[in-house]
Amino acid sequence: MAVRFISEVKRTHTCGELSAKDIGKEVVLFGWVHNRRDHGGAVFIDLRDREGLTQVVFEPGISKETHELAGSLRLEYCVGIQGKVVSRGHQVNPKLKTGEIEVRATELTIFNRSEPTPFPIEDRIDTSEEKRLQYRYLDLRRAPLQRSIIARSRANQITRTYLTEHGFLELETPFMGKYTPGGARNFLVPSRLNPGKFYALAESPQLYKQLFMVSGFDRYFQIVRCFRDEDLRLDRQPEFTQIDLEMSFVSQEDVFAVIEGLIQRLWKELLGVDVPIPFPRMDYDESMARYGNDKPDLRFGLEHVVLTDLIARHGEAGGVPLMYEAVKNKGIVKAMVIPADKPLSRAETDKLEEYVKGMGAAGLGRAKVNESGEWTQSPFSKTITPALRTAINEAVKAKPGDLILFQFGREAMVHTVMANLRVHLAKKLGLIPEYGSGGVWKFLWVVNPPLFEYDEDAKAWVAAHHAFTRPHDDSLPYLESDPGRVKCWRYDVVLNGFELGGGSIRLHDPKVQAQVFRALGISDEEARNKFGFLLDALKYGAPPHGGIALGMDRLVMLLTGAESLRDVVAFPKTQKGTDLMTGAPGEVDERQLREVYVKSTPPAK
Ligand code: AMO
Repeated sequence: MAVRFISEVKRTHTCGELSAKDIGKEVVLFGWVHNRRDHGGAVFIDLRDREGLTQVVFEPGISKETHELAGSLRLEYCVGIQGKVVSRGHQVNPKLKTGEIEVRATELTIFNRSEPTPFPIEDRIDTSEEKRLQYRYLDLRRAPLQRSIIARSRANQITRTYLTEHGFLELETPFMGKYTPGGARNFLVPSRLNPGKFYALAESPQLYKQLFMVSGFDRYFQIVRCFRDEDLRLDRQPEFTQIDLEMSFVSQEDVFAVIEGLIQRLWKELLGVDVPIPFPRMDYDESMARYGNDKPDLRFGLEHVVLTDLIARHGEAGGVPLMYEAVKNKGIVKAMVIPADKPLSRAETDKLEEYVKGMGAAGLGRAKVNESGEWTQSPFSKTITPALRTAINEAVKAKPGDLILFQFGREAMVHTVMANLRVHLAKKLGLIPEYGSGGVWKFLWVVNPPLFEYDEDAKAWVAAHHAFTRPHDDSLPYLESDPGRVKCWRYDVVLNGFELGGGSIRLHDPKVQAQVFRALGISDEEARNKFGFLLDALKYGAPPHGGIALGMDRLVMLLTGAESLRDVVAFPKTQKGTDLMTGAPGEVDERQLREVYVKSTPPAK
């Protein structure tokens, strides 16, 4: 029977296709038994494939043999059926795409039986993620995961079509390259043919795509796997996919236009949503001041107010010594208002304090504003001068009943704590859902960031992104005298609080490049060792160029409202970088290690 089914009797429809207009047709369906019910002699199953479910009925009066075989069907058996499409009459199931009809089976073949599965193949299950990842091939049978993975496939196709239409060539680059310091930590691959030497798995095709521009390919793209050995989070995987592109003879605006068009097309085709373009832009400095990071979620308010200058102006006399101390020590002071119509209980505010302490903050300053603008429930209320209190109330636009939250100290810490607190509160106050967009899509370009950042540990300026980002022309005079002032042509595209992608206009002028290296304290020799081939390439008529990479996994996670990247990567790694299905990473034997000239020294157990 089975042979006849696939070799001669071919599938005519998917399980998500048949409707009232097919009534009377003779059809053949293949799929899995999603559920089964016995009703007064007849056996009913829902047959499932990736397109949907179709009800199939086996009646003793139609075919005795088939009906008997149907009696042995169990969940997840893989089967083929042949039969006639009939109306369900008044038993129509409006929830099902195929709910108007059922197939009255004349033939059945069981391609393969299934053991009882470790968890039900249903949309909503409460099975642990560990178990789901261990049996990922079964987890992937579930409709929500099928939807995400299929959306991902479509996103890939739409991207390829769009970029090809816009003159981009799909070009490949090596995964195994030379290790260069800086950037993310690399995975290393020992070379058997070159004892003691290692390849690094590419963290991105950055250098190669710039070389493509030098070679004159003009517009490059690749949907490419990248590898980074970093600490993992909900929105990070050790291997992930980028939509990576690079363009010659472009300004920042040209790169933006390509990406805005691509996103517009993806959202339209996958969700039917019209995304307005151009996306708004915000300076990096403004984003840090108002939101505490460079990937603000603009679906809600709760903006930060920087009070540093105000506290400095009032000085010691303001009556809040802790804040003034912070300012004197080159720190900053920020505040945020929880409006009176979203009141928090004392216990809830205490919980918030625990939350910020978990991020390393010393505490959470607070003040409740009463009818006359005075502060209650505040450690500062006794000592603060009316003048400073009034000034702060005005600066944060506090109204009676509002709660002001403060954070002061080291700049980076204050920004981070307040940024996380803002999002935490928005979820708690119901301003945004825990996961997903809630149907609101706030795209944003964050632009004009500093080229360098100061590394407190190394006591040196380091490249904030990479050493090949072009500084603004009007920043060039400060390159060596005041590196912190140098702004550059780097940009991030942000969606609902996630960094969707980032890129820059590159440095193609060897003279400025040399200045940047000097500012970074990188000697000519070191620069040659690290980037020799790119520096050489830039000497041979490199075109002005720039590009960007979007995180494909993040994009699909946001598009589908998934909780984590793991829900949009078919075979993901856990937080600890392991694959629970295959057991990777695994041990290898001594001989294999000797072959690649490596000795393993795992820590003692
Ligand atoms: P960047 O390092 O900003 O830029 O990466 C671009 C985008 O890739 C995504 N991403 C990740 N997604 C999942 N897991 C990770 N571990 C991970 N790391 C990054 C993010 C990010 O915005 N070569 C430059 C691009 C350029 O300048 O053209 C680059 O790789 O969505």
